[in-house]
Amino acid sequence: MSGHKLIGPFTQLLPLSGLALKGSLRDEQLQPISNGGILVSEGKIRKIGIFQSLEAEAENIERIEHKSICLPGFIDAHTHICFGGSRANDYAMRNSGKGYLEIAKAGGGIWDTVTKTRDASEETLIRGIIKRCTSHLHLGVTTLEVKSGYGLSVNEELKMLRAIKRASELVVQDIIVTCLAAHMKPKDWVGPPVLYLEEIANKLFPVLQSEKLSNRIDAFIEESAFSSNEIKSYFSKAKGMGFDIVVHADQFTTGGSQVAVDFGAISADHLEASTEQEIKMLAKSSVIAMALPGASIGLGCSFTPARKILDMGGALAIASDHNPGSAPMGNLLTQACILGTFEKLSNAEVLAGITFRAAAALNLKDRGSLEVGKKADFVIFPTDNYQEVTYHQGQLKPHGVWKNGTRVF
Ligand code: NIG
Ligand code: FE
Repeated sequence: MSGHKLIGPFTQLLPLSGLALKGSLRDEQLQPISNGGILVSEGKIRKIGIFQSLEAEAENIERIEHKSICLPGFIDAHTHICFGGSRANDYAMRNSGKGYLEIAKAGGGIWDTVTKTRDASEETLIRGIIKRCTSHLHLGVTTLEVKSGYGLSVNEELKMLRAIKRASELVVQDIIVTCLAAHMKPKDWVGPPVLYLEEIANKLFPVLQSEKLSNRIDAFIEESAFSSNEIKSYFSKAKGMGFDIVVHADQFTTGGSQVAVDFGAISADHLEASTEQEIKMLAKSSVIAMALPGASIGLGCSFTPARKILDMGGALAIASDHNPGSAPMGNLLTQACILGTFEKLSNAEVLAGITFRAAAALNLKDRGSLEVGKKADFVIFPTDNYQEVTYHQGQLKPHGVWKNGTRVF
């Protein structure tokens, strides 16, 4: 067939297709294809199956000569990788027992990154995003979400969002951009916080649409950021303008996930503080619950109750939250595997969380599993047993990554 390229053979190919979006998953459901192949053309998967059975249809063959496990490209559905500076000092202070207020007083916290991000030029921010995307690519990530949120004024948020958009044109991955202008109350804002939110909604939202910068609005609902009440009219405006809603919810105290459900958010992220009540409510809803183990590891806090979320029938995605403050590591697979050991997740649940369930959290229907018609985004690991991938907790590195059918690493 003309233009069709066959890639393989893979010792085991795990398409992760046909699995439920919500609820628990067993490893027996994974059904790896032994000696598998993927037939691609124009960046999409045309056929999937046993390598030899596809050879006759291939115009050319990209042969994999060594043992390999093939998985869908990983999707990191929550990051803050556009920022200036470092918060290594915050990390050291936290680990020597200093509290949130002491760290903020010593010049740390989110506001420190805001200052450094405002000081950085758009070019510097772009370079930082490209560097971090490259590192994620080598770890198997083929799609990422990136948030603004360290600008905290109309112009500084715009600088970040334009930098993210420009970077998305320069990196291999697809970047989904989210506006997090409601990350915290800007320290230099004079007046009630709701007026800041009003200004963002009135002056920034229209530009997000006219410049096609983002169609997703996020807010951090927390005592140290915005209250549920403050956020309601902000989200109403965003919804009214057609934006998708996502929420930083229940990180330290509850309240955020209720807002997520009320506003029909696509995802509620963090949930480390969620109780049975929130978990039940989320499970009944169409909101994806997003665990961010990188923030638990970075802060030394408890993990999102992932097991309970799945057992109650929720949809669990897992993302890195890569940011300079709470989650500086930026290794999605390692973090998902560690969450798996603490929360007793099956391999299927860990892998689903960073592939098709993460795709759903970004409203992307064209990726996350290896199926006919979907993007040919996949990653291979040098082993012959898929269990080795999670077993090594991210230390077994990808041996190759394909984006839209082309080998990019
Ligand atoms: O998702 N929770 C709020 N925001 C980030 C942290 C950002 C920062 O500390 O710079 C998070 O963990
Ligand atoms: Fe975050």
